[in-house]
Amino acid sequence: MAVLPILTAPDRRLKQIAKPVAEVNDSLRQLMDDMAETMYAAVGIGLAAPQVGISQRVICIDLNHAHEGHEKNPIFIANPVIVHAEGEICWKEGCLSIPEYTAEVTRSSRVIVHGLDRNNQSLTLEGTELLAVCLQHEIDHLNGKLFIDHISMLKRSMLMKKLKKQKEGD
Ligand code: NI
Repeated sequence: MAVLPILTAPDRRLKQIAKPVAEVNDSLRQLMDDMAETMYAAVGIGLAAPQVGISQRVICIDLNHAHEGHEKNPIFIANPVIVHAEGEICWKEGCLSIPEYTAEVTRSSRVIVHGLDRNNQSLTLEGTELLAVCLQHEIDHLNGKLFIDHISMLKRSMLMKKLKKQKEGD
């Protein structure tokens, strides 16, 4: 397993629509494992393949790993699709691709997602609260969307100016 570099905004690769996965084969499992390793190393709770520069519809989530002593138990989903969404929840979100920034985003409070698991089997996952938020956040990444696309245009343009400046300063 390898820790991959995480792209940070602004980066045009984060704005691309990722391609569907044909099947979850060994090379895709390798990508999934590398994504998990990368997510744990960065102390994140979710990661989407476009964040490591891979334009494929794959996400990885583990809500509990940040707690000390918790066993790693990542959820991998290829080609995730939200087939049902209801309710409303407001959550303070962050993203490994936008370091040191959080903002409140309103999303559905319960979602049902279909996709393929690490063994290429169909999977149905129901998420409420933080899991619902995380699933929507990661699936957004596959559609070239960041959580800051849900905040006001004014806030977003101020943040993007700052992020651009930080990158130029590197
Ligand atoms: Ni993110």
